[in-house]
Formats: sequence, structure tokens, C-alpha cells
Amino acid sequence: MNLYISRKAQSISPSSTLAIDAKFKAMKAKGIDVVGFGAGEPDFDTPSHIKEAAIKAINDGFTKYTPASGMPQLKQAVCRKLKRDNGLDYSPEQIVISNGAKHSLVNVFTAICDPGDEVIIPAPFWVSYPEMVKLADGVPVYVHTTEENGFKFTIEDLKKAITPRTRALILNSPSNPTGMVYTRDELKKIAEVAVENNIYVISDEIYEKLIYDGMEHVSIASFGDEIKDLTIIVNGVSKTYAMTGWRIGYTASNAQIAKVMGNVQSHATSNPNSMAQVASITALDGPQEDIEIMKKAFVERRDYMVDRINSIEGLSCVKPQGAFYVLMNIKKILGSEFYGTEINTSDEFADVLLEKAKVALVPGSGFGAEGYVRWSYATSMENIIEGLNRVEKFIKNEL
Ligand SMILES: Cc1ncc(COP(=O)(O)O)c(C=O)c1O
Repeated sequence: MNLYISRKAQSISPSSTLAIDAKFKAMKAKGIDVVGFGAGEPDFDTPSHIKEAAIKAINDGFTKYTPASGMPQLKQAVCRKLKRDNGLDYSPEQIVISNGAKHSLVNVFTAICDPGDEVIIPAPFWVSYPEMVKLADGVPVYVHTTEENGFKFTIEDLKKAITPRTRALILNSPSNPTGMVYTRDELKKIAEVAVENNIYVISDEIYEKLIYDGMEHVSIASFGDEIKDLTIIVNGVSKTYAMTGWRIGYTASNAQIAKVMGNVQSHATSNPNSMAQVASITALDGPQEDIEIMKKAFVERRDYMVDRINSIEGLSCVKPQGAFYVLMNIKKILGSEFYGTEINTSDEFADVLLEKAKVALVPGSGFGAEGYVRWSYATSMENIIEGLNRVEKFIKNEL
């Protein structure tokens, strides 16, 4: 049968990170000894005081619809968090609680894009941004960055990308997949350009707490009222509290945009899960020590991974300052033959590596980073050591 699929749906690519993770899980289920580095989620368990809050919510009968854009109590907790951690004043009508930060982002693009509106996406980028923009009939416009510049765009690059159709810039600091973090000075300059050109800044701060080496997280919304009005902060509990499965994200924005996003959400999904919302209040207001434990482990793993990669002939990487990913440069080995196959792209590298070494890495192609593959260090040190041992043998053709 010739089934009709809309042009828009056909233009959306599958998520390469979820695809590699699915392949990894399928191999594992078959009993194959495979090591996976595709997952974008902390390997830590959700802290027990957060779980207990959800169990209590269920036992207390908190099992009904909440307001579509989220419970007022959670919105208030988000406002307290923004004040405490970011020095920002928001009121509950400026907050929308969604089914994960991914859903928050879909709401944002739906709220601000008309067909043909351009959204500037610095590359390398998180795989979902371009597809989300396309879903909202927007047009992704890429600003390419280089490893030499620490994967950061320059103000000149940004200015060149702005056209009369530019609606927004996506900022993701700390970044997935590069781990780079913009400094206060850099953000201030970006804010000035956004205000001058009246473009929104979608500030994805989901990795805000996973930041290392004494770097500070600064929200671009903190540089004055004008940029605050143009900024839509996207954040959530997934990465900070090891709560990826709970699906709670949020936005903080101008109240007008929040209202529109709330309207959209009220028809698309209604409220996010009620007990997960209660648990998120505990996550935001409760003890924060578990973050430090997680961070300490991430730093150890990152340092080991970076040192090992840079010790292998043909491979290299820069040290990420945040998140839990390492983008490994494989350009020197492209064009060489491994186990009878000439490898010319990051997809081919990831395929042959998975086949021969049973190591799952995500090709850079999906991140706008051809010539790179992404490791996640949100996995045990034991896995990291084993994965790197296998990659080293693979590169030396010793498998
Ligand atoms: C940069 C970035 N933004 C947003 C998200 C979405 O997070 P959530 O699990 O809250 O939907 C992710 C998850 O991988 C991410 O890497």
C-alpha cells in the first residue's frame, strides 16, 4: 500500500543518539559483550528523598490532572531556584512546566516561529535542535565553530548569520556535545547583539550544574531587563538530579510567551505527570549534596578519558568544561583502512567500531560535527577503561 506521509514528517531525521543507544541495547539483549557510550543520562540513581516524595504523592492521592502548564507550587519552586542559583527574579506566570526540557524546547519554537523564520544554531549542536526548528516550520541556520576556538562562535560569526528573518539564537552552555562553557564576558557580548537585533535567545541551561574546574554558570538573562525579556531559559531536573525518566523540564520567559506556550501545551499534552511534579519540588528545594557526589565522579572519569584519548596516536580531544561528553577528533584516521574497510566518515567509524570492537559511540554527523565522535562519560569507570582499551586496540588494528 502506498501510505501518505506528510512532507514535514518526512523531513525529520531520527535521533542519532537514541538510535545508537537502541542498537547498543539490542546487542546487549542478545548477550553480546558490548560497551555503550551513547546515553545522555547520568548513571546515578535518583536520590532517595526525591523518590520518597513521589511515593508519598501517590499515597496521598496526588494522581489527578494539575493545571496544564504545571502546579503553582512547582512554578514557585522554580522561581526560588532561579533567584537562588542565577540571581534572577521571575514570577510563577512566567514559568511553564513541561514533559522534559525537550518538550519545553518544542513549545518554545512553536510559540516564536512563523514559517520561514530563521533560528541560529551554533555547530556542533545537540541533535534535536534542527529537527525541532523544522517541526515548527522554522529554518535552522548554522554558525560553525572550530576546535581551535574551543567550539565557540565569535561575535563576527554571529553578526554575519543574522538576517531580517532571524527570530532566535540557541545558546547551550555547558554544551552537548562539546562540553564548552561560555564565560560571563562572552555572554555579555552575545546579549548585546541579541538586544541590538531584537532576537530571542533560547538559553538551554540543562547542564548548568555539571560544570567543572571552577568555571561558573551564568545565565544570559542576567545582563539586564532587555535581554531578560528576550531570553527563554530552558532547564529541567533530568541531568542535575538524575531524573531523566521522570520527564520534568521548564521554561522561564516573558509572561506573554509563557502564556502562549501554556496554551499550546494545554492542547498537546495537558499537565506533566503529577507525582513527578511533586518530586521535582523536593529536588529543587531539598538537599543538593548528591550533585557534588555526581560531579566528583564525572571529573575523575572525564580526566581519565581525555588523557587516554590524547595518548592514542591518530585521536585527540579537548578537555570539556561541563556536561558529560567528550567530542573525539578522528580526522587524522579518516581515509585509512580498518579491518578491510576504508573509513571516511564518522558514521562509518562508529559502525565499524561497533561491529569489530563492540563499542558504541555516537557519530558526529548528527551533531553537525563530521570528523568527530561523541563519548558520554555518564557510565562507570570500569566501562570507560574497557571502552578505551578496545578503541586503542581497534585503532592499532590489534583486535
Ligand atoms: C542540550 C540538551 N537539552 C535538552 C535535553 C533534554 O532533556 P530532558 O530529558 O529534560 O528532555 C538534553 C538531553 O539530552 C540535552 O542534551
